[in-house]
Order: sequence, then C-alpha cells, then structure tokens
Amino acid sequence: MTKRTDLGGSFTLAGASITLNRMGYGAMQLAGPEVWGPPRDVDGAIAVLREAVTAGINQIDTSDFYGPHVTNQIIKRALHPYPNGLVIVTKVGARRGDDKSWIHALSRQELIDAIHDNLRNLGLDKLDVVNLRVGGLMGPSEGSIEEPLTVLAELKHQGLIRHVGLSNVNREQLAEGQRITEIVCVQNLYNVAHRNDDDFIDDLAGQGIAYVPFFPLGGFSPLQSSKLQAAATSLQATPMQVALAWLLQRSPNILLIPGTSSVKHLRENLKAATLQLSSEIIANLDSIGKGLGQL
Ligand SMILES: NC(=O)c1ccc[n+]([C@@H]2O[C@H](COP(=O)([O-])OP(=O)(O)OC[C@H]3O[C@@H](n4cnc5c(N)ncnc54)[C@H](OP(=O)(O)O)[C@@H]3O)[C@@H](O)[C@H]2O)c1
Repeated sequence: MTKRTDLGGSFTLAGASITLNRMGYGAMQLAGPEVWGPPRDVDGAIAVLREAVTAGINQIDTSDFYGPHVTNQIIKRALHPYPNGLVIVTKVGARRGDDKSWIHALSRQELIDAIHDNLRNLGLDKLDVVNLRVGGLMGPSEGSIEEPLTVLAELKHQGLIRHVGLSNVNREQLAEGQRITEIVCVQNLYNVAHRNDDDFIDDLAGQGIAYVPFFPLGGFSPLQSSKLQAAATSLQATPMQVALAWLLQRSPNILLIPGTSSVKHLRENLKAATLQLSSEIIANLDSIGKGLGQL
C-alpha cells in the first residue's frame, strides 16, 4: 500500500481511488490567533499553501470552523481552481461560540449547513473527504455516533461527499460507524509524547484505514523533550523534524498534517520525510510516550 518517495511515500485510502502522499499539511494555523478571525499576514498564509502544493503535498486538512470560514476562504483564494490530485479533507461536527469556544454541532441541520458552508467557502461541488468530529479535543468520549454519521452517509449518497472519516473516536465508535458507511480515515490526537492510540493505529493499519494524527508537533503546546533534542543533534536535524520522522516510521498508515503559518517551518517539516531514525533512536524516543524517564 505504501511506496517511499521524498514525501514519505504514499497511502491509498481504503477502498478509495485516492492516493495521498504521507506528508500533508494542516491548515488550522492559517487563521488568526486562537484560530479566530483572519491571520495577521494573509499573503504569508497564501504563500504557505502555494509552497505546500508546489512541493507536492496533495492533502490539505481544514475545517470551516477554523476562523470560522477564514481558513477555507484562504485555501480557495490561494489555490482555486485546484490542481488535479489535490485532496482537501475537511471536518464537521463543531462550531465556534462568540467567545471563541469550540462547541459540538452535531444536529442534522448543523451538519447539513456545515457541508454547504464548506462547499461554498472552498468553491467545490463535492467534498473529497469529510471527517465527522465527535468527542473532545484531548480524546474521544463514549457514546453512539449513529445519528450524526447517518446524516453524513445521506449527504454522501446525495453526492455532496466522496468519502467519510471520523475524528476523536474510539474503536467502538469506529466499528459502529463502519456499519453505517465506509470509513476511510481516523483523525485523533497522537504524537511521540501522547500515545493512547498505539493499539488502535495497529488495528487500523490491519484494516487499511489511514490514521491522521492531529497535533503531531504538540499543537498549542509544541513538543519539548531533551530526547527529541538529543536525537535532532545527532542527526543534524531539528526536534520537530525528528517528531515527524518518528510518526512516519511508526506505522505505514500514518499520514501527517503538521500545521504551520510559516514557509520556513513548512520546508523544514517536509525535509523530515527524508530523515531515517535508527532503531536505537526510535527506542529512546518511544520512552517519551511511555512515561519512562525525563521528557
Ligand atoms: N480533528 C481535530 O479535532 C483537530 C484538532 C486540532 C487540529 N487538527 C488538525 O491538525 C492539524 C495539525 O495540528 P496543529 O497545527 O494544531 O498542531 P501541530 O501541527 O502539532 O503544531 C503546530 C504548531 O507547531 C508550530 N510549528 C510547526 N512547524 C514547526 C517547526 N518546523 N518548528 C517549530 N515550530 C513549528 C506551529 O507554529 P508556526 O505557525 O510558527 O510554524 C504551530 O504553533 C491542524 O492544522 C488541523 O488541520 C484537527
């Protein structure tokens, strides 16, 4: 299923005709501070997106609740008409309160409105992949996802969505979801220091389902670790590159969507795909997430 290239190889979504380079891009950082309003530097945001696509990235992760609306509008402004093969993966299931809070938006009407908002703001007739986001930011919550997922399955049937994924879910929710519609990817919180999904990732790999970790670099609290730093020094790389290379080597079904508002960081992150970590370095990094020794 995977093939090594300088973007970390590629992965074909289960049962889907979509092949993604494993190194993608997450657009959340393109909105303003606290993912609210426009960025301070719109031209800079546009430059990051164009550079990503020029470098061969063919997966951009977004949502219409980033900004809200801002990130999708910037993607459209920077890249529309979209080049062949570019896959924009969006998510629904939340909205922003006036106080910038993140609120579940999983009712039938909220989901339908969110799909139409994404279509309009991205300038698309059909969304390639839509993740249904349930649960909390730091992890899944128990409970059925049948009602909201059934709405997405209907919208897929109507031709507004090509493929469906899930975000912030556990194994039981995935299994429930698979009885409703095909699930091509799961997007949960995971990185070298946060490894609750270790077994889940292996299960998904066995089923040919992509696992797309959000906060691969630690998100709002970027990863800081003397072990990452030591590995980086030995490889003449940066700690962020090591964190991304660790994910690429962790499992072939992991696709990366690191977020950045900076062309410099984007270029740095792309180079992580060419970094080879020895088994000794991997073992040392593994101890970060297993709570062994010092961060
Ligand atoms: N499903 C969900 O619930 C959910 C939740 C959160 C995020 N997401 C998705 O996941 C994507 C990735 O998450 P994220 O952007 O929040 O977190 P992230 O990729 O873990 O980290 C982004 C942070 O790291 C910094 N950074 C990036 N590259 C760097 C580098 N080479 N050196 C130093 N700092 C660097 C960025 O700052 P600079 O801008 O200065 O580079 C930013 O502060 C998002 O874009 C979004 O699409 C999904």
